[in-house]
Amino acid sequence: MSKIVKVSGPTVQADKMSGCFMHEMARIGSEELLGEVILIEGDTATIQVYEDTQGLKIGDSVVRTGELLSVELGPGLLGSIFDGTQRPLPLLAEGLGDFISRGAEVESLDRNRKRRFTPSVKKGDTVTAGSELGFVQETEMIRHPILVPVGAGGVVAEIGEGDFCITDVIARLENGAEISMLRKWSVRLPRPTAGRLPFNVPLLTGQRILDTLFPIAEGGSAIIPGGFGTGKTVLEQTIAKHANADIIIYIGCGERGNEMAEVLREFPELEDPHTGKPLMERTILIANTSNMPVAAREASIYTGMTIAEYYRDLGYRVALMADSTSRWAEALREISSRLEEMPGEEGYPTYLSSRLGAFYERAGRAKCLGRPNESGSITVIGAVSPPGGDFSEPVTQASMRIASTFWALDYDLAHQRHFPAINWLTSYSLTAPMLAKWYAENGRPNWMEMVKEVNALLQREEELSEIVKIIGLDAMGEKERIEIESARIFREGYLRQSSYHSTDAFCSLNRQAKLPELFLDYARMITKATDEGMPLEDILSAPMAESLLRLKEVSEDGIEEAVGKIKEKMDSYFKRGGEA
Ligand SMILES: Nc1ncnc2c1ncn2[C@@H]1O[C@H](COP(=O)(O)OP(=O)(O)OP(=O)(O)O)[C@@H](O)[C@H]1O
Ligand SMILES: [Mg+2]
Repeated sequence: MSKIVKVSGPTVQADKMSGCFMHEMARIGSEELLGEVILIEGDTATIQVYEDTQGLKIGDSVVRTGELLSVELGPGLLGSIFDGTQRPLPLLAEGLGDFISRGAEVESLDRNRKRRFTPSVKKGDTVTAGSELGFVQETEMIRHPILVPVGAGGVVAEIGEGDFCITDVIARLENGAEISMLRKWSVRLPRPTAGRLPFNVPLLTGQRILDTLFPIAEGGSAIIPGGFGTGKTVLEQTIAKHANADIIIYIGCGERGNEMAEVLREFPELEDPHTGKPLMERTILIANTSNMPVAAREASIYTGMTIAEYYRDLGYRVALMADSTSRWAEALREISSRLEEMPGEEGYPTYLSSRLGAFYERAGRAKCLGRPNESGSITVIGAVSPPGGDFSEPVTQASMRIASTFWALDYDLAHQRHFPAINWLTSYSLTAPMLAKWYAENGRPNWMEMVKEVNALLQREEELSEIVKIIGLDAMGEKERIEIESARIFREGYLRQSSYHSTDAFCSLNRQAKLPELFLDYARMITKATDEGMPLEDILSAPMAESLLRLKEVSEDGIEEAVGKIKEKMDSYFKRGGEA
């Protein structure tokens, strides 16, 4: 019998473990805490424990399970709240702040609930891995196909119809295989697809600065690096609420428990802005907060990703939010130091980049296995918390090399309460050029040119701001004052967006197609007016500047009319040389 010979923080060492394999799960001590083998030396194994190791002692038993850490997949995942190892956390959801007792073995999916299964195949049909056997209606919006498991296939001998629990057999194949609705999958193993697809559709977040200037592709990956309090969590949550994904997986990894409790309280009350249904019907929350065991942070990331892959394979567009990947990296660092591995930069393990890389690489758009005409995607948005907001630190640097979109949060902007505090000069999207065609086909033919013009405007403001710092705004020339004014109106009226304002929190593509042009028109018009000799004061006090800044608060039904009115006013005011 294996016994504990050493306890070191979140890890234990056990003897007589020969024959165990890497990443095998073990049950530790009398409470049977869940752990995973991460180092094997001779017949000793080091195990990272996914629960608090307090109270474990030398000589406590260690029992191998012969299994890898895996998650349960099937109807009933949506709306769930799990901890890092996929145990349901209903108590936390009720705000009781209570945790499941240690070592508790809880089924992730309800075994007793019956669901109506409607077959799509009949006796005698040939099916392969990934083909659809039938479906259940998981929520009002989400039809949940039940697919032939990976590795199975054959001729259907029997197929059920009616109400079944997820463990009931719903189909038998002629080769004897029995298929239920429940799947298990090892979290460290990416699920297979029938091939990757290019990034050519954006995932719309409803955030103007993102969708307009730094769009993320469906299946792409973005990182949100930002110092303390710059708005990472608010941005992740805002995207989780408003993005046009079918399924949202939100992983709270090593962040404050009260923040996560707030999410757990708030989300169940929210409405999906796209369908009007409860937001939780398309959401799965995974909570591994800072007061929970460090090792389980890694499990939470992998659990979330595996569930995301499952819904991708069903043909859905999944968005996975991870807040914060830095806490996971810190957990890797802690475990690595317990293993006495050679440290890399700032003490992080030398395999930090490859670990992060392997995670982000599981994002993508793919053809579904067994159903090549259908596709699904996983878009990953990871928050990064560089200490002191210093982006040259290892986790930000490693993540930057992998993710295709970079939304840099800025202390100064957050300090000025300009939210989202995304720095428009340092952020970028490598996938933007691949999305131009989609934008063109969706009512934005001049999108790339518009972005160029906006960038030039903002870049110019940055250059001028250096001079303003030295000589002051009043000493600037008229032309420069107008350039600064144009950029200001765009920044405040368009880029700035409140996550807390009922109308402003989400900006539709329709609005995003109209507004930038209007702002640019204004910039052109005031430049022209200066050239034609209109006095600077008249331009700066133009009454429609205020209306432009307030446009974001105009409701969707009123926007067309409001834009029209402003245009009219602009035309007449500047034509008449500043008479209101
Ligand atoms: N988009 C936004 N709209 C309005 N206010 C915002 C927005 N983003 C951030 N804020 C404000 O900034 C505060 C801090 O934001 P948040 O908690 O998201 O920061 P953070 O980067 O996650 O911080 P930490 O490093 O502590 O995790 C919020 O409480 C809110 O007041
Ligand atoms: Mg945060």
